Amino acid sequence: MPRAFVKTHIRGFDEDVLRGGIPQGHVVLIRGASGTMKSSLAYYVLYHNALEGTPGLYVTLEQSAGGLLEHIASLGLKATSVSDALPILDLSRGREYLEEMIAKVGALSPETATPGEALLAVLKGKILELRKKRDFRLLAIDSWDALELILEFADRRAETFGWFEWLRDLGVTSFLISEEPALEAPPTALEEEFLADGIIHLRLEPISETAFQRRVQCAKMRSVNQNSDDHTLLFENGRFEVARAIG
Ligand SMILES: Nc1ncnc2c1ncn2[C@@H]1O[C@H](COP(=O)(O)OP(=O)(O)O)[C@@H](O)[C@H]1O
Ligand SMILES: [Mg+2]
Repeated sequence: MPRAFVKTHIRGFDEDVLRGGIPQGHVVLIRGASGTMKSSLAYYVLYHNALEGTPGLYVTLEQSAGGLLEHIASLGLKATSVSDALPILDLSRGREYLEEMIAKVGALSPETATPGEALLAVLKGKILELRKKRDFRLLAIDSWDALELILEFADRRAETFGWFEWLRDLGVTSFLISEEPALEAPPTALEEEFLADGIIHLRLEPISETAFQRRVQCAKMRSVNQNSDDHTLLFENGRFEVARAIG
């Protein structure tokens, strides 16, 4: 059976770069420095899929739902038109919110002994509950770095592996937003790059002494013969679009 694809709705990207789209069920990293429009792009993909009837869930940890909605409005996207099909799970208060949920759930089972494990169980429980209730097919976690911080990964390698397995079992296509690791970062910091099915890099490229241009590059997309070239990324009138970058 041919594999189903998730469209990003970024003009030129689905056709010219992904040759169809993102294979359903993939875990995709969106990496880039601050301000490279990672959140905007992830929300945009979920937004356009929600408009077409495919529900999503946006988990925000770095900025509040209010802050995110304000940004979305500034991009000209109408979040209210998809509020049912694309709820935002606001974890910007981090541990505080999860600890409140733990308190609400009451007594914890023995396997959720440590605080980190209890937080993890509560968070996964919340996502599973929403999966059952809303049957969302796309999931964005913004950001993976913030999630890791809240959950205080003790064994980064094992816990990252566990999360990726869990996301695949969830049966959704997921986008993990993450800062570009520093050049001197230890190999364990790249664990998610090995585990991810897809990697999309976003960059602000200096094109002269004073000018910068947005760039997007799809470094990896399992089971797709993707175009790995750098493309310029434009955002105009509420639409993302890519064009071939002239080197
Ligand atoms: N209407 C707009 N059109 C184009 N770019 C915008 C618009 N509004 C904000 N931006 C850009 O979006 C950037 C922030 O995007 P965001 O998705 O929050 O980035 P990141 O998540 O990578 O930190 C801002 O730095 C700004 O340059
Ligand atoms: Mg962001």
